[in-house]
Amino acid sequence: MTTKIKHFQKKVYAYYYKHGRNLPWRKTRNPYHIFISEVMLQQTQVETVLKKYHPFLKAFPSFRALSYAPLREILALWKGLGYNRRALFLKKSAKKVTHEFSARFPPEAEILATLPGIGQATAKATVVFAFNKPEVFLETNIRRVFIHHFFSVKKRVSDSEILPLVERTLDVSNPRIWYWALMDYGSALKKTHPNPNRKSAHYTKQARFKGSDRQIRGKILEVLIVHPYLSRPMIFSKINASQNQIMRCLLSLQKEGFITYTKNRFHII
Ligand code: ADE
Repeated sequence: MTTKIKHFQKKVYAYYYKHGRNLPWRKTRNPYHIFISEVMLQQTQVETVLKKYHPFLKAFPSFRALSYAPLREILALWKGLGYNRRALFLKKSAKKVTHEFSARFPPEAEILATLPGIGQATAKATVVFAFNKPEVFLETNIRRVFIHHFFSVKKRVSDSEILPLVERTLDVSNPRIWYWALMDYGSALKKTHPNPNRKSAHYTKQARFKGSDRQIRGKILEVLIVHPYLSRPMIFSKINASQNQIMRCLLSLQKEGFITYTKNRFHII
């Protein structure tokens, strides 16, 4: 191993052993718990996930429980995490694990990545943290570490350039702890350096939320959680957006399997 890589590992571990975070999903080896935490952490900050992780697991303690839970109840607990599609995907994934995998959580990333809404990175992260397997993956904090350390002068960096370095620096004897360390180090870098991820070829600015379809879709679901059966005029009266936009959002929610329309009423499936 080159000295440069050794030096990098030492630095990341030194940070972790001094400042590493003690997060609840790091205290378990339960694949279901880890899977839920990884899906929550995909697009939501740690501080927000911390508030939702235990209540969610208490309400839905297993893949089986989640697979039979009404989507309306899952969405009610998902509130605050954003990107509701993940709640729908989780229910669909739970159904697949319960009925097609006989409730046995597959320890193979390739199989996990066949679950609805689960990409390669989430599948691999889950396998690393649940089974301590030395998979190679990137997420936003990890990407930040590598861009900061190995591409300080380069303007535009693609994941295909970073991944070989993730592989070469991976501590194959302790992948679980190594990735925790990388994530904590990357999260700390965010506070001390202007975002190096802007240099990622995959960097996109988050779209404006206010007035967006994403916001209106979220509002429609919130209203339907509290009032389970609503007619079109009732929804129009409860949501502050144009009828055009509301109709577009209702149609997309229906198409994606969040809601149904029967007897002139919208209802969460
Ligand atoms: N610990 C385990 N998985 C994590 C993640 N995705 N983000 C932050 N900390 C984690």
